[in-house]
Amino acid sequence: SRACLSLVNQSGLFFSSQIFINNEWHDAVSKKTFPSVNPATGEVICQVAEGDKADVDKAVQEAKPGCAYRAPWARVQKEPKGLPLPRHCDLHISEELETLDNGKPYSISYLVDLDMVTKCIRYYAGWADKYHGKTIPLDGDFFTYTRHEPVGICGQIIPWNFPLLMLAWKIGPALATGNVVVMKVAEQTPLTALYVSNLIKEAGFPPGVVNIIPGYGPTAGAAIASHMEVDKVAFTGSTEVGHRIQKAAAESNLKRVTLELGGKSPNIIMSDADMDWAVEQAHFALFFNQGQCCCAGSRTYVQEDIYHEFIERSVERAKSRVVGNPFDFQTEQGPQVDEEQFKKILGYISTGKQEGAKLLCGGNPAADRGYFIQPTIFGDVQDNMTIATEEIFGPVMQLLKFKTIEEVIERANNSKYGLAAAVFTKDLDKANYVSQALRAGTVWVNCYDVFGAQAPFGGYKASGNGRELGEYGLEAYTEVKTVTIKVPQKNS
Ligand SMILES: *[C@@H]1O[C@H](CO)[C@@H](O)[C@H](O)[C@H]1NC(C)=O
Ligand SMILES: *[C@@H]1O[C@H](CO)[C@@H](O)[C@H](O)[C@H]1NC(C)=O
Repeated sequence: SRACLSLVNQSGLFFSSQIFINNEWHDAVSKKTFPSVNPATGEVICQVAEGDKADVDKAVQEAKPGCAYRAPWARVQKEPKGLPLPRHCDLHISEELETLDNGKPYSISYLVDLDMVTKCIRYYAGWADKYHGKTIPLDGDFFTYTRHEPVGICGQIIPWNFPLLMLAWKIGPALATGNVVVMKVAEQTPLTALYVSNLIKEAGFPPGVVNIIPGYGPTAGAAIASHMEVDKVAFTGSTEVGHRIQKAAAESNLKRVTLELGGKSPNIIMSDADMDWAVEQAHFALFFNQGQCCCAGSRTYVQEDIYHEFIERSVERAKSRVVGNPFDFQTEQGPQVDEEQFKKILGYISTGKQEGAKLLCGGNPAADRGYFIQPTIFGDVQDNMTIATEEIFGPVMQLLKFKTIEEVIERANNSKYGLAAAVFTKDLDKANYVSQALRAGTVWVNCYDVFGAQAPFGGYKASGNGRELGEYGLEAYTEVKTVTIKVPQKNS
């Protein structure tokens, strides 16, 4: 517990690893706690209050009066300053905690995650007074106007791979449209959200508007998904759990459901692509964030005439990847988030070897403590191999060879997932043709993992439903009310 608490105390800022309900910090009703672990060392950072059904019930009860349709906070407080923009000095605390708890390199927490968090919150703060209805003439003596009203109590369940960023993606649109939030944060990475709870209080949110519960999926997460008074659930995580959330919603109160789930995204490299750029981007597409991205470019399809050169250069690049202490500014890759993920990834590597894929580099743990894995590349991967169909969520790249565009479209689409895809080519016609043919929520052309708060993100097929970010991201957080009015034809 020392490391974490002293880190924060240095700056004189308050931090509590308890449940945040009604703008106060609470022990779990059960009094249980669980350890948050530093994945770089395997050591416990601190104990965190473990929320479950009783705490979710408590949060929902406190959220109810805050609900926009019961109390006027959303109507009167729709000002950008109502959203919890971190103060500059707070940013450093957040990124240190993020790296400590998640293992991602400090340089990434600092330059990527935090930057995207503040941009996302600012972006949605701007929407707070701009997302409104229409006036629609009807046949006859009537007209209609629509109101975009808050859905109500929004249960939000966020993952461990981008703890702060997923918090921003979820609370941004929910709060901009006047909802109240009961958020469950991942048991692997609860600390930064709890830190943000401090900022939420400081920003002046009324009690009960944002409630944050650290805890486990089968207890706290399940309680949100099946709660009779939760109006909407938004989940980011595995497809397997997505099925359970949707089922729980169906079997309880038919709450609205949005899901952002797994992927096995194809990254297509045409022979006319800029080789240097394509090698570097394919490397980034897969290895970024320790490979722990739902949209990782985890099936790299390379056209046959450049296949050998591409393999050689990709292996060279992977071997030069700097793996190590995430607080070292040179580090490109930190540890996987926990022991469970670490073992699962090593399991996939051994399955890849058994099924006949060619291990070109890596394949082993990269340190004798912590959950580090060597950047790993498999060549000669076939579409039906486990490593080409299942989400590995680790630093393991699959290279597959293709001949024609028609063939690669068919193969790229032949997946239960449809989250993202990319194509690298200098030919605009090829780029447009492939982009429209791929069944994926995002297609990147000559780039990868380019995100903006303005651009919607979400999946086709088993990668989920609904879209987050951009104007589209507001739809899931509003009910449209149709008000129809008779217009008198004569002044009687
Ligand atoms: C993939 O398909 C080939 C050809 O049908 C077959 O020989 C091979 O055993 C399959 N591999 C896996 C892992 O299913
Ligand atoms: C993939 O897209 C192609 C072309 O649009 C289509 O023919 C095919 O049915 C799709 N396959 C899947 C599995 O979605």
